[in-house]
Amino acid sequence: MSEGLFDTWITRTFGCKYPIVQGALAYQARAELVSAVSNAGGIGILTSAIYDKKEDFHNEVRKTKSLTDKPFGVNLNLFPSTRTMNNDEVIEVILEEGIRFVEASGGSPKPFLDRLHAGGVKFIQKVPTLKFAKRMEEIGCDAVTVLTYGGGGHPGTEEIAASVIIPASVKSLKIPVLCAGAIADGRGLVASLALGACGIYMGTRFLATKECPMHDAGW
Ligand SMILES: Cc1cc2nc3c(=O)[nH]c(=O)nc-3n(C[C@H](O)[C@H](O)[C@H](O)COP(=O)(O)O)c2cc1C
Repeated sequence: MSEGLFDTWITRTFGCKYPIVQGALAYQARAELVSAVSNAGGIGILTSAIYDKKEDFHNEVRKTKSLTDKPFGVNLNLFPSTRTMNNDEVIEVILEEGIRFVEASGGSPKPFLDRLHAGGVKFIQKVPTLKFAKRMEEIGCDAVTVLTYGGGGHPGTEEIAASVIIPASVKSLKIPVLCAGAIADGRGLVASLALGACGIYMGTRFLATKECPMHDAGW
């Protein structure tokens, strides 16, 4: 049982106050934003693919830890064309630093799952369709984030409304489901929980925060 207002798989598993996960944001989700989200009671996610070298990513993890003692996670990039760093090296850092929340999208995480699970990591895959969500359950993911209509910055969604695909996913799967896509406030959180999600995964809204390094003029 978690102590706060929210008692979901996310708050119970990671000991955070709110079932709010900050989405992976290339070039934006660095230590400042990630630690601010975790300090505020959600889960910040460092985006590993923007670092060219293992040491650069490791330094960002260390910096995040210096700014928060709360749990935060790491996004693994499984899109082959945009990957800059070897994911094996990212995982070495994750395991060495005791990070317990890893999420990914863009390809199958199967080659990495056993190693991450052996290190005590919970793995959440971001999927654009129910078909992929079922496949992720079969291969052993601990949860899925289902991208719904209106989500920013991610290819492959089938543009199905959250009110349709989230209840359908919750009904079809045994593993927990997070809702992502066009959520920007507490009403979106409550609506997602009402649809059966264990939490939300929110990206674009965090671009409009003072901790996000995005230039005021935009991307
Ligand atoms: C500027 C930007 C950069 C993003 N970069 C990544 C990324 O590097 N990896 C990834 O898996 N998803 C990325 N995403 C997708 C988000 O993690 C998330 O799926 C999406 O923001 C959820 O929908 P929302 O923006 O409507 O909240 C990005 C989204 C945005 C807006």
